Amino acid sequence: MHSRILPMEESKDGFVTSRTNQSRVPHRMLQFLVLFLVICVTFSLVSVYLIRHFGAQNIVAATGLKTNIFQCVEEPKTSLAQWTKPPSNLLHSMSDKELFWLASLVPRRKEYPFTRVPKIAFMFLTKGPLPLAPLWERFFSGHDRQYSIYIHSLPSFVPNFPASSVFYKRQIPSEVSEWGKMSMCDAERRLLANALLDMSNEWFVLLSESCIPLYNFSVIYHYIKNSKYSFIGAFDDPGPFGRGRYNYMMAPEVEITHWRKGSQWFEINRKLAVNIVEDTTFYPKFTDFCKPACYVDEHYFPTMLTIRAPNLLANRSITWTDWSRGGAHPATFGRGDITEDFMKRIYEGGECFYNDRNSSVCNLFARKFAPSTLEPLLLLAPKFLGF
Ligand SMILES: *[C@@H]1O[C@H](CO)[C@@H](O)[C@H](O)[C@H]1NC(C)=O
Ligand SMILES: *[C@@H]1O[C@H](CO)[C@@H](O)[C@H](O)[C@H]1NC(C)=O
Ligand SMILES: *[C@@H]1O[C@H](CO)[C@@H](O)[C@H](O)[C@H]1NC(C)=O
Repeated sequence: MHSRILPMEESKDGFVTSRTNQSRVPHRMLQFLVLFLVICVTFSLVSVYLIRHFGAQNIVAATGLKTNIFQCVEEPKTSLAQWTKPPSNLLHSMSDKELFWLASLVPRRKEYPFTRVPKIAFMFLTKGPLPLAPLWERFFSGHDRQYSIYIHSLPSFVPNFPASSVFYKRQIPSEVSEWGKMSMCDAERRLLANALLDMSNEWFVLLSESCIPLYNFSVIYHYIKNSKYSFIGAFDDPGPFGRGRYNYMMAPEVEITHWRKGSQWFEINRKLAVNIVEDTTFYPKFTDFCKPACYVDEHYFPTMLTIRAPNLLANRSITWTDWSRGGAHPATFGRGDITEDFMKRIYEGGECFYNDRNSSVCNLFARKFAPSTLEPLLLLAPKFLGF
């Protein structure tokens, strides 16, 4: 029996003990709860009061919360200028795929909510050095807000422009490109894509190291700015070197009636530049079915843009080239060629359409000039080039 009672008593005692505990705990908890409630109410009242009187931002700042929240974020983008400013360093680690995607982003609103000075992007497609750089330096001098420069060179080339040069740190990540092959168009697309990242760039001019300007900066800027059309050579050549290079496997994306030919040295506006960078429709067709003796750099952009935006094209180039000596390559001029008569001959060139009217100003740039022409060109520049 003992053994029975004891547990009972124990259990009884335990019951009693637990009862007394139960009645004590709620009392303490209640005290805490009330205290907690009082703190909460006080805090919210104070907050409401402060927010009414000072605004949320200031309180965050005053209590030091802001610095804690944003400390881990590098340079917060708090103004539109910070969102739209071009990259400070042209060297990046993006692949072409990533870069072209980024460059194809286009604002849907037509009007800019800030003052935008439209710039010309001068894109130099080179092997490496720019032997005529001193002439270009003089050309660009005094027009800082109206242009930007991009250089695509052989990846092995190490530039050594001084910090004072307009070409300093203007190299973009480059890859080997070969004439007549898709790698050449890839290089041009890379130049366009990098230049598109600067929202101020409105016009895009492709040049080589052997190109020279034929007028001063103001004349060239206004000629391009006031043109209704972009300048890219695009003509329908029925012969073996034109339509003869067309491959019927390109249809239906590219029909033979669309097939165009033109020199690679173009000037295009921002819309056409985006058309080129965003293209995934025609690119595979040209990659697969336009291989030498189909020289893709003579056909891809003229044909593609003729399909995408025919009414924006002037169908002519603004880069003067001398084919009169015949052969597969245009003439290259050396030191001895640069005379006053020669310069006159370039300008007397001919007639063309500018904004649907006859014009005698047809070419803004000329090629191909050897490094040895630098000295005579600098001497003749004030009289003929206007700078
Ligand atoms: C640029 O050239 C044009 C025409 O030759 C001339 O009228 C103008 O004054 C020149 N501008 C500058 C800034 O030299
Ligand atoms: C350029 O050619 C396209 C067709 O290929 C045509 O629609 C357009 O009007 C031409 N541009 C000019 C300025 O004549
Ligand atoms: C424009 O040039 C064409 C030849 O290219 C010529 O036939 C025409 O008469 C010229 N028009 C004017 C108004 O000068």
